[in-house]
Amino acid sequence: MIEAAEAGSTSSLKRGFRKRQNQNVETNSPFSRNTYWFGRLCLCGGSINLTTPIPAPTNFCGTAEIKPGLNVPYSCCPPKLDIDPKDIPYYKLPPVSKLRIRPAAHAVDEEYMVKFNLAIKRMKELDVKDPSDPRGFSQQANIHCAYCNGAYKVGDKELQVHYSWLFFPYHRWYLYFYERILGSLINDTSFALPYWNWDHPKGMRFPPMFDQPNVYPDLYNPRRNNDHRGQAILDLVHFGDDVKATDLQRMCNNMVLLYRQMVTNSPCSQLFYGKPYTVETGPKPGQGVVENIPHTPVHIWVGTVVGLDLGNKKSDGEDMGNFYTSGLDPAFYCHHANVDRMWTIWQTIGGKRKDIDDPDFLNAELFFYDENKKPYRVKVRDTLNHKKMGFDYLHMPTPWRNYKLVKKSKTKLNARLLPPTTKIFPIAKLDKVISFSVQRLTSGRTQQEKDAKEEMLTFKNLRYDVRKQMRFDVFINAEFSGSYTNLPHIQRNQSEPHITTIKNFQLAINELLEEIGLEDEYNLVVTLVPKIGGEFVSIESAEITYEAC
Ligand code: C2O
Repeated sequence: MIEAAEAGSTSSLKRGFRKRQNQNVETNSPFSRNTYWFGRLCLCGGSINLTTPIPAPTNFCGTAEIKPGLNVPYSCCPPKLDIDPKDIPYYKLPPVSKLRIRPAAHAVDEEYMVKFNLAIKRMKELDVKDPSDPRGFSQQANIHCAYCNGAYKVGDKELQVHYSWLFFPYHRWYLYFYERILGSLINDTSFALPYWNWDHPKGMRFPPMFDQPNVYPDLYNPRRNNDHRGQAILDLVHFGDDVKATDLQRMCNNMVLLYRQMVTNSPCSQLFYGKPYTVETGPKPGQGVVENIPHTPVHIWVGTVVGLDLGNKKSDGEDMGNFYTSGLDPAFYCHHANVDRMWTIWQTIGGKRKDIDDPDFLNAELFFYDENKKPYRVKVRDTLNHKKMGFDYLHMPTPWRNYKLVKKSKTKLNARLLPPTTKIFPIAKLDKVISFSVQRLTSGRTQQEKDAKEEMLTFKNLRYDVRKQMRFDVFINAEFSGSYTNLPHIQRNQSEPHITTIKNFQLAINELLEEIGLEDEYNLVVTLVPKIGGEFVSIESAEITYEAC
């Protein structure tokens, strides 16, 4: 590891130079002003940017943890390499002659389901035939465990592919190889994973193919929440408890939420992808809007209820509700195909939504085995265009795109009746609903100003216990603005064990203020509603900031 770190820093010096020389041309990059300057070196009279992209974890793999003091009872590490890690080649995307078209899970025919079930069955057979075959079902599931539960390290810190800009590219590569392995096991090079179309009312139930143990036994998994089988409508902000609502309300809420997350709250790349993660920043700099919701709630909705007796242990959300076991549920790949599809859709929405061009992002590396059992290093840069990776999604309408709020002549809550932020913050425990007024620095901004800078409701130093389920919602003038959630996990080697500090939790509000007609106000009524685990949350301050995001 030391060797790797040293090698990394030399190359980052070189890159630092390049970056500095290019800085003038890079000023339009959404991340250029966010690059991490963690040190200054006096060299040629200038400063050098010392950042290093995350390297592929090829040198070390250790125990993974379910939670502090509780190790995963088996090894999540990939099979032993038969070559020197240094010699693992870079993966080259093969030329694409025909795209694999991923279908919506609820709309496929029987033939497809039979085929998919057979492919998963063959994968499971590999587990028995040769447990060290990297294509095996458990080996494939372990990939998620190793990358997410602390088995890999970068320097002395854990490698974590969630809670940062690595989230989308990592899962895209993961599914990419999974799909190719399945295809090769049934000799079908056109095989494509199904996507769980939870962004369409017709896809908001658990996809039937996964819920027929007698017909498709290999797609079935008993470790799921039984209350959510059959006709139950998914709640895209589900966080452990079922809210009472009619099916129609639930679908409608989901639509509003999807619009909020995909459009209102993701106007630019940093908010959508998540924050920059490099060797220097360390893990979990901050997750993107869609990773937070609906990605995480869907995991929790599918997994077993925390605390339930699973026979050999009490549930920590297994399988889908915990990173270490998520990959053991075939529905995981179907869920993530839709998460990935959200990425492709976001790229077409327009405005300031551009791909990240920071070299620390593009040059980040991961490590996977392909369908021929060969290990490869892959780069994030190859994921930006999914068609170049040889797959696409069968088109389905996206009705949530029409869920922009129409300006209602809504009663404006009177901000003057509420305490200002200075009276409320810091909040030591978010254990009850709190309303307050936040001052804007300006009102009635022009379109040009809005294009240049996004107005953000910024919460500073949000701290919470990462081992606890947690969610709170944010409302502006009683309109849902966004949520923050935590999927229980562990974190290692931090100065304060289990407590994480999110420097900025931000909600983009340009569009929301237009929608609810508050653009000319100087004060906004903000309400924080803790749903679960609020007693483990503290927040230093809330303010309005204006940022080129
Ligand atoms: Cu890697 Cu949905 O989690």
